[in-house]
Amino acid sequence: MKILAIHGPNLNMLGSRQTEFYGDKTLEEIDSLLQEKARELKVELETFQSNHEGELVDFIQKKAPQASGIIINPGALTHYGLSLRDALIDTPLPVIEVHLSNIHAREEFRQKSVIAPIAQGQISGLGWRGYIAALEILAAEA
Ligand code: DQA
Repeated sequence: MKILAIHGPNLNMLGSRQTEFYGDKTLEEIDSLLQEKARELKVELETFQSNHEGELVDFIQKKAPQASGIIINPGALTHYGLSLRDALIDTPLPVIEVHLSNIHAREEFRQKSVIAPIAQGQISGLGWRGYIAALEILAAEA
């Protein structure tokens, strides 16, 4: 069983980027905590980050056929990334949307997600542990 963890634009800057919202762990640290949890749960995990929506779409199209679920923090694409949303719809996979910060407690433009209506659920505001919870849920369901 394979889970994909996908990180959108600017998440490669975690650790130094607006740490009051996103915490001080780097993306590398978050991915390695996820890999550790995946080993414990005995699932395979593939992680991917891109600053480009088309690359995220390419990755989903290529990898979804061999996967059982998707964890995605779409970054700012959360709020307007319609081709990313369509790529997710085109997979039959359960999708869990994760945000480090609580998008509902921030600027108005962040409070709308174009991904949420097509996701199984959304975890927002729980920091890096939100990714771990998403992995546990997908692993338990598959
Ligand atoms: C984010 C929230 C988005 O609004 C923002 O553009 C990000 C990170 C989060 O994890 O809280 O890049 O997805």
